Amino acid sequence: MAMGKRMGKGMILSIESSCDDSSISITDIATKKLLYHKKISQELEHSKYGGVVPELASRLHALALPAILEECKPWFDQLKAIAVTNEPGLAVTLIEGVVMAKALSISLNIPILPINHLKGHIYSLFIGKEAQFPMTVLLVSGGHTQVIEVTSHDVMNTVATTMDDSYGESFDKVAKMMGLGYPGGPLIEKLALLGDASRFLFTVPLWQSPLIAFSYSGLKNQVRLSVESSCVEDYPHIASAFQKTATDHLIQKLKKYFKSYKPERFAIVGGASANLYLRAEIDNLLSPYKAPLLLAPLEFCSDNAAMIGRCAVEEYVRGNFVNYDEIVVNPRCKL
Ligand code: KG4
Ligand code: ZN
Repeated sequence: MAMGKRMGKGMILSIESSCDDSSISITDIATKKLLYHKKISQELEHSKYGGVVPELASRLHALALPAILEECKPWFDQLKAIAVTNEPGLAVTLIEGVVMAKALSISLNIPILPINHLKGHIYSLFIGKEAQFPMTVLLVSGGHTQVIEVTSHDVMNTVATTMDDSYGESFDKVAKMMGLGYPGGPLIEKLALLGDASRFLFTVPLWQSPLIAFSYSGLKNQVRLSVESSCVEDYPHIASAFQKTATDHLIQKLKKYFKSYKPERFAIVGGASANLYLRAEIDNLLSPYKAPLLLAPLEFCSDNAAMIGRCAVEEYVRGNFVNYDEIVVNPRCKL
């Protein structure tokens, strides 16, 4: 239901539940300012399983989302729309946010703005400010590893993607092999600081292939063999060598891509964009191109409703509303 272009006074309440973070935000439409944001992470609950258990995540959203919503009541009479992540993500967790959005849409008599989670990550760069385009975006999260050419809000083209696991997911799996817990990214990054990357040699995925694509399942298996044949004292060295190889793979493919496409502006988004080793390597890669590197504040790298709210302002001004009976959940949708 497109209702034409509109600016407006008022606010948008946004809900994010695509994986294991329950989050709600309130964003002012005219100024794009973030007025309220809260996120309840389920990391501890999933940690003992070494990864997200979808049904457990769904039950925890059903408890956390209403508790956060209670704090948003003072804004209810100023809300103009409810934004909700409806794609991509885990079906059983996306539905928790969508059901809440439907109930709010009916009771407050306002429309829904369905938001693509990946587009949301891109807007984590622009919370409270104007967007800057064009830019080349590296999206590295638990579910995705993609290079996206972003020309404008309405023109976003994925030019490279992973053939199997994602960058963040490979950190989660390596952490699980070492019995470190979940999420693996920050744990491996920390452990890697104590290790010497030259003590283990892993092959960079697809290094001989002309493809501009990513793959992490082979590296994961190389690491598994090393973990199984090593003692715990070697884990920091393995973590360090793994992080280096996983990142070298991104850098090598980006270098190849830049041969035919010079970046004007470059951004890293998604949960794994918090990795400081990755940030430093990308910074080095960009220096000959003089392309500025855009990064989201650390608190908005992983899943959150603040980025969904910022993206929702763009959908609002375009009038991309749906009624409560029109919204659908697309777990596997891309950009
Ligand atoms: O964007 P996000 O919160 O959720 C998805 O949309 O998937 O990303 C979560 C992923 C997890 O795989 C987590 O291990 C990874 O981001 N991650 C990191 C770091 N912090 C989070 N990976 C590498 N290094 C980090 N510092
Ligand atoms: Zn995400």
